[in-house]
Amino acid sequence: MNARLQDRVCVVTGAARGIGFSIAERFGREGGRLACVDISAKRLEPAVGRLKDMGFETRGYEVDIGRRDDVLALFERVEREFAAPVAALVNNAVFARFEPLAQIAVDTVERMFAVGVHGLIWATQAVVPQMERRGGGSIVNLSSVSAFHPAKDSIAYSALKAGVVGLSRASAIELAAKKIRVNVIAPGMIGTPPSIAQFDEATIATRQAEMPAGRFGQPEEIAALAAFLASDDASYIQGAVITADGGWTVPAK
Ligand SMILES: NC(=O)c1ccc[n+]([C@@H]2O[C@H](COP(=O)([O-])OP(=O)(O)OC[C@H]3O[C@@H](n4cnc5c(N)ncnc54)[C@H](O)[C@@H]3O)[C@@H](O)[C@H]2O)c1
Repeated sequence: MNARLQDRVCVVTGAARGIGFSIAERFGREGGRLACVDISAKRLEPAVGRLKDMGFETRGYEVDIGRRDDVLALFERVEREFAAPVAALVNNAVFARFEPLAQIAVDTVERMFAVGVHGLIWATQAVVPQMERRGGGSIVNLSSVSAFHPAKDSIAYSALKAGVVGLSRASAIELAAKKIRVNVIAPGMIGTPPSIAQFDEATIATRQAEMPAGRFGQPEEIAALAAFLASDDASYIQGAVITADGGWTVPAK
C-alpha cells in the first residue's frame, strides 16, 4: 500500500460507521493521522478502538457537525491535539430521510440541511486557514447520484446532495488559489447497513440485477476513491464530481 497520506492530519466526519469508517480505515492504511468525528458517542468509541487496534493514530471527536460553534471549536482542538494543521477533510456525515412531498416536515428538512449543507460550509470555513498555513490541502465531499438521478421519495435528499455539488464546485473555484482542492464523490447504491435496511432480500436481488455491475458497491470502493482525491495523485483534479455507481446511472442504449 502506498502511504500517500503519510503523517497528514485527516478529518473524517460521520466516521463511526459505513462509508465514513471505511474512509478512516483506508486513510489510516495510507499513513494518515485520523481525527474521526461523529455525533454518536455510542458508535464512535468502538470505531476509534478498532482503528487504534489496526495501529493507526486515531482520535475521536463527538461533535454535531450541524452546529457552527462546535465545528469551529472542533478544528481548533484537532490542530492543537495533533500539533499540526489539517491536510485532508472528508465531509461524509449525513442525516437523511426519504419521504414523499406531503410528509416532509419542517424539522426534518431543517436538520438535513443543517448537517448536510450548512455543516459542510462551517467545516470548510474552519479548515481553510489550517490548510493555508500548511501550503494547501484537499477537501472531499460526499454527494450522491441522487443529486442528478433522484429516486422515489428523495425530494429533500436530492436537494441536499445537489447542494453539496454546488457548494463544492463554488469552493473549488474560490480555494484553488490557496492550493486547496475540493472534489465530490457521488456514490450509487453502497451496501451499508442503513442503505440496505430499507429493502427486503427479493428487492435487494432485483436492484442489484438492474445495475450494470450486477451488485451494490462496497464502502471500501468509495474509500479508495476518497484516498485518491485526498492524495497528491489527484493534484490537478479540482471541482470534479466523480460518480462511483457500477454504471447504474449510465443511460441504457
Ligand atoms: N450508503 C449509500 O448507499 C450512499 C449512497 C450515496 C451517497 N451516500 C453518502 O455517503 C455518506 C455516508 O453514507 P453512509 O451510508 O455511510 O451513512 P451512515 O448513515 O451509515 O453514516 C453516517 C454517519 O454520520 C453520523 N452523523 C449523522 N449526523 C451527524 C452529525 N450531525 N454530526 C456528525 N456526525 C453525524 C452518523 O452517526 C453516522 O455514523 C453520506 O453523505 C451519504 O449521503 C451514501
